[in-house]
Amino acid sequence: MTANLAFTPDVERLTQPIWEKVKGHVTPMEWRTQAPLIAEINRLKRERNAVILAHNYMTPDIFHGVGDFVGDSLALAREAAQSSAAVIVQAGVHFMAETSKILSPDKTVLIPDLKAGCSLAASITGADVRLIKQRFPGIPVVTYVNTTADVKAETDICCTSANAVQVVESVAKAWGTDRVILIPDEFLARNVACQTKVGIIAWKGRCEVHERFNAQDISDMRLAYPGAEILAHPECPVEVLEACDFAGSTAAMNDYVLSRKPRQVVLITECSMAGNVAADVVGTEFIGPCNLCPHMKRITLENIHDALVYNRHEVTVAPDLAERARLAVQRMIDLPPPAIPARYDLVKARHHVAVELI
Ligand code: 13P
Ligand code: SF4
Repeated sequence: MTANLAFTPDVERLTQPIWEKVKGHVTPMEWRTQAPLIAEINRLKRERNAVILAHNYMTPDIFHGVGDFVGDSLALAREAAQSSAAVIVQAGVHFMAETSKILSPDKTVLIPDLKAGCSLAASITGADVRLIKQRFPGIPVVTYVNTTADVKAETDICCTSANAVQVVESVAKAWGTDRVILIPDEFLARNVACQTKVGIIAWKGRCEVHERFNAQDISDMRLAYPGAEILAHPECPVEVLEACDFAGSTAAMNDYVLSRKPRQVVLITECSMAGNVAADVVGTEFIGPCNLCPHMKRITLENIHDALVYNRHEVTVAPDLAERARLAVQRMIDLPPPAIPARYDLVKARHHVAVELI
């Protein structure tokens, strides 16, 4: 149970810079509850030598209020690998916390709600991957980081939406093959296939947030907001990406808006993303639609506070499994960071390649 914390003049003063950032998305009434929690979480972090790794889909109070490192799945994995803190609180979903534990086995890794899952991670098991490898011997297995540790342990190299094309091409070259298994997100696999000559074998996993967008949504937005620039995440269906102006990871979308400052922008992704970027850019109008990720939304200031107070919920991965999974994640981290600005014309450079669906 979260302590009863008061909105004192001290709390108000300490949290003033954060309020300036989030006031477009938080009402003064909500702030009187949030500010004391933010101040107390930031104090507890110092006391426990803890850091909070916050994904771009966290709500603005978490993202701007208590996140020490914020970003996409790739940036958070990189940070987990090099953090010197004793405790990592993952303000994101369970597979992200597992990835942090795999990369930092000596640290205490906490997830504020154990039920913060992911439809992609739930779509496939390690046993499934073993069967796929039997069916396609000699073909490298690339798995999206949105998977459990037992899936990563069966994997040759991981990828995120920020580097999937780069990973597929580098592993195909290293193995001397013209086909790669890219699982479990069918749409990410199809979108990667549009940008590479490497043949893709895919699995029918879906992100429950991004699969709901369709081409009609994009044409409706074009009609209603003719000047708006439309950006979409590669977990969306192929026809969505074809109809929009740019496709990229959450970090790439953030980078696009901050560097190009469009007058109007539509982010075809999870709802909180727009609020977080909006706090860092002046003069850009953010237009819906968006879909909520119910898993990401399980993480709140209250349960982050309780995670630090009660040391819960500790994420563990069996050492042998963690070691095998770590190899796959580390191989990805060891690749040079993706060159985000070079990908602004990515959508226009697409071609069509058949994808083999398992
Ligand atoms: P990225 O932040 O890596 O783009 O991933 C989005 C996502 O859905 C994470 O769950
Ligand atoms: Fe999983 Fe999609 Fe939610 Fe990301 S947004 S955690 S991929 S369900």
